Amino acid sequence: MRIQTGSPARGANFFKREPLIQKSWDLLESGEHILLAAPRRVGKTSLMYFLMDYPRENFSFIFLDTESINNENEFFRRIVNKLLKTQHVKSSQKLLTFLDKHKPIIKKVGLEGIEFGVSDQHDYFGMLRRILHTISLEQGRLVIMLDEFPETLENIIADEGEAAGKHFLQSNRELRQDAELSDKVQFIYTGSIGLENIVSKLNVMKTINDLSRLKIPPLTESEAKAMIQALLAGLPFDLSAAIIDYILEKIEWLIPFYIQLVLQELRNLHRDRSVQEVTRDIVDQAFREMLEQRNHFEHWHTRLRETLKGSDYNFVKEILNIACESGSISSNEIMNLSVKYKLEAVYKDLIGSLVYDGYINNHDDAHTYRYNSPILRMWWRQNVAN
Ligand SMILES: Nc1ncnc2c1ncn2[C@@H]1O[C@H](COP(=O)(O)OP(=O)(O)O)[C@@H](O)[C@H]1O
Ligand SMILES: [Mg+2]
Repeated sequence: MRIQTGSPARGANFFKREPLIQKSWDLLESGEHILLAAPRRVGKTSLMYFLMDYPRENFSFIFLDTESINNENEFFRRIVNKLLKTQHVKSSQKLLTFLDKHKPIIKKVGLEGIEFGVSDQHDYFGMLRRILHTISLEQGRLVIMLDEFPETLENIIADEGEAAGKHFLQSNRELRQDAELSDKVQFIYTGSIGLENIVSKLNVMKTINDLSRLKIPPLTESEAKAMIQALLAGLPFDLSAAIIDYILEKIEWLIPFYIQLVLQELRNLHRDRSVQEVTRDIVDQAFREMLEQRNHFEHWHTRLRETLKGSDYNFVKEILNIACESGSISSNEIMNLSVKYKLEAVYKDLIGSLVYDGYINNHDDAHTYRYNSPILRMWWRQNVAN
């Protein structure tokens, strides 16, 4: 297993989180549609790639990153496109006959299969549904994985309004509820921002209440240790048990990404400064170097900047500033701040988003919020608060 910090971990570089993989298959095999929930960088896309790359018998997958999509028809057109490139669809005679009748919208047959033009007039939702009805899945069930789905929903709401957003959710639900499709098509939705937060603001929770929620928790301590060992196997230095404990203690929120980042910095120190033995001081230094890589963490701030306006932004920024200076912030302080910013009516939603998106939590004590990870806290203190 090699260090990988840029793109999702795949193949031999994916650390197999057995309990999580098992849970995913349990849900898929019982026919559920899944909402894969976890903050950014926790490993959602990596997990989906793993399911797709090592499918169980009778399952096949398509994966679509929907982040840039901003209208419903485009969304379904992109799924149709993907679908037509899959093997079992290409080899379905019934489907080819169906497509023959719809020739006018077929743009070209390229290297990768049939490509469709952006004919806005065409109803791609209807077309997707008919294709799904037509294909007989001799290879078993098809799982359609839609990454960054909540971003798409946000885009649609921003560009076309709330009614369009509700319609979009309703269309997705209709496909999932289609009785003829129930034993052959399943969906996995995911994204780094809380779908439930957006949907509940629209007041249409019923459009997603059929989804089974699958959470991606941080690694357990023993998983984290196993992952470190797997990475060390490919590195030219070793770490003592005491140093590994020290690293885990410093990371606290044991997501694979942070483990990758720390080992990457240790590798750089070893390589560039010919560090022989990794000591606590070296680990501290690796953390400092890591925090200087702006690009690893910048998105945590950008996200707030982009989605929150005016006093909403100032309110959450002050909360995060206080929590990083003092180590925590109490719900009393939060309430007082909501008065200061005149946000009494909505501040609970804002805190809910901060929790969901992985900034803070109140696990230990319901009335006290602290950062999920000292790493993000340190980064925030250095780069945003001061
Ligand atoms: N199972 C895993 N094994 C190894 N590294 C992982 C794993 N899951 C996540 N990572 C690390 O975390 C980073 C972010 O993972 P990714 O799947 O892109 O997260 P998300 O889609 O939730 O934002 C990856 O680049 C990789 O460094
Ligand atoms: Mg992702």
